[in-house]
Amino acid sequence: MRYNQDFIEKVRDANNLVEIIGQYTELKGRGDQYMGICPFPDHSEKTGSFSVSEGKQLYHCFGCGKGGNIFSFLETYNGFSFVEAIEYLAARAHIPLPDPEDSKSAKPRVSKDQKSQFFRANKFAAVFYHQKLKSLPASHKAHRYLQKRNLSTEMIEEFRIGYASENWDDLLKYFESKKIPIAVGEKLGLLRRNKKGGFFDLYRDRIMYPIFSLDGEVVGFGGRIIDQGQPKYINSHESEIFKKGNTFYGLDKAAKFIRGEDKVFIVEGYMDLLALYSRGVNNVVATLGTALTENHVKRLKRWTKNVVLVFDGDSAGQTAAERSLPHFFAHDMSPLIFVLPEGKDPDDFISEKGREAFIEQSNSSQDLFLHLLQVWMKNYKGQPKDKIEIVDKAAPLLRQLQDTRLKQIYLEELARHLGEPMQRVAGWIKTTKGTERVVQADSVPAVSSESGKMALKNVGKDELAVLGLSLKSPKFMDFFVRQEGLSALEAPEIKELFTQIVAKYRQQPENFDKLAHLVVSRVENPEKIVNVFNISSASDSDESDEKLMKECLYRVKDRFLQRQIKHLTAEVKKDPAPEKLERIMNIQKERITLKNLKISPLGES
Ligand code: UTP
Ligand code: MN
Repeated sequence: MRYNQDFIEKVRDANNLVEIIGQYTELKGRGDQYMGICPFPDHSEKTGSFSVSEGKQLYHCFGCGKGGNIFSFLETYNGFSFVEAIEYLAARAHIPLPDPEDSKSAKPRVSKDQKSQFFRANKFAAVFYHQKLKSLPASHKAHRYLQKRNLSTEMIEEFRIGYASENWDDLLKYFESKKIPIAVGEKLGLLRRNKKGGFFDLYRDRIMYPIFSLDGEVVGFGGRIIDQGQPKYINSHESEIFKKGNTFYGLDKAAKFIRGEDKVFIVEGYMDLLALYSRGVNNVVATLGTALTENHVKRLKRWTKNVVLVFDGDSAGQTAAERSLPHFFAHDMSPLIFVLPEGKDPDDFISEKGREAFIEQSNSSQDLFLHLLQVWMKNYKGQPKDKIEIVDKAAPLLRQLQDTRLKQIYLEELARHLGEPMQRVAGWIKTTKGTERVVQADSVPAVSSESGKMALKNVGKDELAVLGLSLKSPKFMDFFVRQEGLSALEAPEIKELFTQIVAKYRQQPENFDKLAHLVVSRVENPEKIVNVFNISSASDSDESDEKLMKECLYRVKDRFLQRQIKHLTAEVKKDPAPEKLERIMNIQKERITLKNLKISPLGES
C-alpha cells in the first residue's frame, strides 16, 4: 500500500460519506441515520432500502446486501482502486498527497505536479478540438462524415468528439495563448518538433476521440482521418498518464452499465464502441488497437466476470480473441465469443441489423474455448499427430485455470472430441510443455494476491458474525476480548487484523466507531462483515444480537478446541506419549465447560 494508515484516516475524516453518496441518490436524514433508494444500478428498487450512518460513516443496503465505507463505496460504485479512491477523496478535501520521498519509493515516479500538468494540457486540447467541431457549419466535411457514421449531436457531446483542422499550428497557437508549455504538448504527442526546431500540430484534419480515465481525465486521443487515407487512426503514444495495456476506450461511460447488466461486450474499435453505445448497448468497451492484456482483464473483473468478445469477423479478429483467452483463464473467467460474419465488424452488424438483432444474436454467443476447439477440429482427421497438435494448443490454456470445476468441464469436452479417456487427456495436459506464463498462486489462501486485501471467502460464518458484532458495539467487543476470542480465530490474516483492532481499541476506546473502517479498508468484500453488524438496527442491546454473539463465539472456540484435538491425535499416532493423551482429555473437558459460555452474562461477572 502506498499511503500509510494515518494519511488514509485523515482523508476519510475530511470527507463525509453522506455527501458522497448524496451525489448519486437522494438521502433523507433521521438523526445519525440516512435512508434512500439504493444507488447501485444492479439493484433497481422503488422503496428506500439503502441506509447510511453518518456517525459510523458506513452504508448498507437491506435489499441487495451491499455495504461498506467511503472507500469501498467508491470502489464498487465508480470502480476505483483503493489508491484511486484515496487520491480522489484527498483531492476533494484539498489534502496534498504525501511526498513520494516519505514513502521511500526507490523508482523515480512522475511527480503529481507533472501528471496534473499533462491532464490539464490534454483537457485543453480536448476542449479545443470539441469547440472547433461545434463551431463548424453543418455542411462541413467533418459533420458530414459524422452524420454518415450515424453519430448524433448527443453522442458528440457525451464523448466530447472533436475535430482537428487542416492547419499546422492551430493547437500550437492555442497552447501558447493558454501558457501551456510546448514541451508538455510534445511529451503528450500532440505537438511535434520539425527539423528547424519549431513545432507543429500532429493531428490535422482528423476527427478526434478523447480517451478518458475513470475519473474523467483525458489520458490520450484517437484521431481518425476523414474518409480515405493513411494512417486511418493516430493514437496518442504511451506516456506516464496513458498505458494502452490497461486502458479501454469508453469505460468511463460504460462502467455503470456493465455493473448493471453484469456483462460487458469488448470490441476492437472506437467506431464499434460508438455504434453500439449510440444504439443503447451501453455495456461496451473498446481496446485501443493493441492486444488485450491481463491488466485489461483485471480492470474489467471489478465490474463483471461475464465477458462477450465481439471482435471483427476476419482472421485478425479471431487470432486476437484466441490470444486473449489465457488472460481470462488466469482469472477463472470464461469469455464468450460473438462470431460476426466474415468481413464484418460490430459497427457494420448493428448498423445493418439493429439493436434487437444484436442482442438476440449475442445471447447465443459461444464459449470461447469451445469455439476454438471447434476451429482446431476443422482439419482433424483423428490421426495421432492431430491429437497431439490439439493437446499442445489446449494445454497452456487449461493449465491457467485454477477453478477445478471449469477445468474438468473443458477437459471432458476435449477428451470427447479426441475420443480419448478423460484421465489420459488430463495427464497430457499436466505434462505438455507450453509457452505459458507462471500464474502466481495465492500463497496464503485467505489473501487475495491482486489487491493485497483479504478475501473473506475462507472465513466461516460464525467467525464473521462474532467479528461483525464485536465491531457493532463496545460491549460485544469487550466480551470477545474477555473470552479470548482472538486466539480461537482460524485464518491467520484475520487473526492478525483483529489483534490490531483490539490493540487500537484498548489504546483509544473512545474511538470505537472508527474500528470498523480499518476492517472495511483491509478486506475485499466488507459487506460480509458489515451485513452482520447491521449498522442500521438502532439499539445495541438487542437481545437476539446477544444470543447470536454467544452462540457463534461458542462455536468458534469449540472448533478451535476440536482442531487442537485433531492435531494432537495425529501426533499421538506417531508417538503415543502419555502427556499428549492427557492434553487431549483436558481439552475434551474444556469443551464441556465451554458450553457455559452460551449462558454466561455479557457484562463483567
Ligand atoms: P478498425 O480499422 O477496425 O477501426 O481498427 P474501426 O473503429 O472499425 O474504424 P472505422 O470503422 O474504419 O472508422 C480497430 C482499432 O485499431 C486501432 C484503432 O484503435 C481502431 O479503433 N487502429 C486501427 C489504429 O490504431 N491505427 C490504424 O491505422 C487502424
Ligand atoms: Mn469499423
